[in-house]
Amino acid sequence: MERNIVVGITGSIAAYKSCEIVRELKKKKWNVKVIMSENATKFITPLTLEVLSQNKVYTDMFKRESYEENHISLSEFASVILMVPATANIIGKIASGICDDLLTCTVFAFRGPVIIAPAMNENMWKNEIVQENVKKLKEKRYIFVGPEKGELASGKEGIGRLAEIEKIVEKVEETFEKWQKKQM
Ligand SMILES: Cc1cc2nc3c(=O)[nH]c(=O)nc-3n(C[C@H](O)[C@H](O)[C@H](O)COP(=O)(O)O)c2cc1C
Repeated sequence: MERNIVVGITGSIAAYKSCEIVRELKKKKWNVKVIMSENATKFITPLTLEVLSQNKVYTDMFKRESYEENHISLSEFASVILMVPATANIIGKIASGICDDLLTCTVFAFRGPVIIAPAMNENMWKNEIVQENVKKLKEKRYIFVGPEKGELASGKEGIGRLAEIEKIVEKVEETFEKWQKKQM
């Protein structure tokens, strides 16, 4: 199985950390394709991710340069999908079956493991609906890494912080190995 990963980035203040994660994945010889939600592009630029992933970055489902490039081809490319950082919004959309952008459509077209690394304010994370959505996804084949307790973007201590970069990359490796064995 190819070491191909789709990294989905959403509109969290922790989005800048996804740059470091893409770098680490490249160092570990992953072929990385990045999908950014429209709101993620308000936090970091596709250009940065393009250079780090050494690949084109996908942001718009309807703006395509060739017939082959779409959510189906991205889902076929991926051995693993990693959503980092994952907002409360994307978690809610996936848990509710909403696919209204490239990232959600790619996730729904994909049959392999999806890793979700949430990052948000503590109260958002503890919100009953967010927790219900997380529970629902955990009961299916979605794998969560974090969030962790620590200093949040607001400067306050609490739960909601994106998991450490090494931990996220480790989870990708571990998930890929398990999935590969299962396919044999
Ligand atoms: C400065 C700022 C920081 C934000 N940080 C987060 C965050 O860490 N986690 C989160 O779930 N939402 C956060 N939001 C809210 C999301 O950007 C918002 O829910 C958005 O609709 C998410 O869109 P997306 O999931 O399609 O990327 C933040 C918004 C702003 C303006």
